[in-house]
Amino acid sequence: MIEIKGITKRYGKHLYALKGINASLKERVTTVIGRNGAGKTTLVRILSTQLLPTSGTATIEGYDIIKDTKKVRNLISSIPQESQLIGILSPLEQMQLYLMAKGFSAQQAKAESKEALDQLELYDFRNAPSDTLSGGMKRKVFVAMALAAKSPVIFLDEPTTGLDPLSRIEVWSAIKRLTSKIILTTHYMEEAQELSNEVVVIDQGNIMTHGTIQHLLSTFNGKMRAEKLDGEEYDIKIANVAIKYIEKDKVDEFISKGYDIKRINLDDIFLSKGVMLES
Ligand SMILES: Nc1ncnc2c1ncn2[C@@H]1O[C@H](COP(=O)(O)OP(=O)(O)OP(=O)(O)O)[C@@H](O)[C@H]1O
Ligand SMILES: [Mg+2]
Repeated sequence: MIEIKGITKRYGKHLYALKGINASLKERVTTVIGRNGAGKTTLVRILSTQLLPTSGTATIEGYDIIKDTKKVRNLISSIPQESQLIGILSPLEQMQLYLMAKGFSAQQAKAESKEALDQLELYDFRNAPSDTLSGGMKRKVFVAMALAAKSPVIFLDEPTTGLDPLSRIEVWSAIKRLTSKIILTTHYMEEAQELSNEVVVIDQGNIMTHGTIQHLLSTFNGKMRAEKLDGEEYDIKIANVAIKYIEKDKVDEFISKGYDIKRINLDDIFLSKGVMLES
């Protein structure tokens, strides 16, 4: 379990990247979702002991990120946003380096790397220069590193940003092989839905909403989404599209007013909080 206790991060005099956030992350896979600049990377870097908060702290499996930094580091693997492989080294070589830096012996590092590469269907590429791999394969190598390190807690900062839909699905299936506790960040709602049971939505350094996907959807309590370009009735309006959350018995009425009726999905969790994401 991860307990976030009043974490604030200030950059310079006035910019608060995180504004005193609190949360208990209890589920095995948690997605932190939010648009560019929301504070996702700042949070992940603080939790993974790469950056000190301005105030507040957190515990990971009971260890304090500030007081017990060494213990926390032994528990975690963190794959930073936009991590790059060294082009002239092969996946196997880089994974071995990573694992040896984590304290594995050379022999153990090689054996674990090979096994993880095999599990993620990268074994045939183990000796190829990383430069020759596709973007999706490169990301999978990072997931393989996390898999091989067998850390109980893994942070993945935007593991699929910029990938084509097929490569994204490949990386998803690689992530699904991990059995550790995972905290991942993303801009994509489908990704949160696909991979996690718990989502934390952050915007401008604040937690807008937090809960299991099931719980967040249940707050709409059977309502439907009615939307119409330039519609006159709305709860929220986005780029001239009027969106109104209606009870089921109002569906016919809104259809006759020219609205399209949609089922509630994860988009609505964000839209209803005024947070817009890419999809
Ligand atoms: N080293 C830094 N110095 C100054 N400001 C920073 C620094 N790092 C981040 N920021 C600012 O803090 C805020 C949060 O940034 P952060 O990188 O955590 O966002 P993010 O949610 O990860 O965004 P993205 O989706 O683009 O990766 C932004 O306003 C950013 O400009
Ligand atoms: Mg980021």
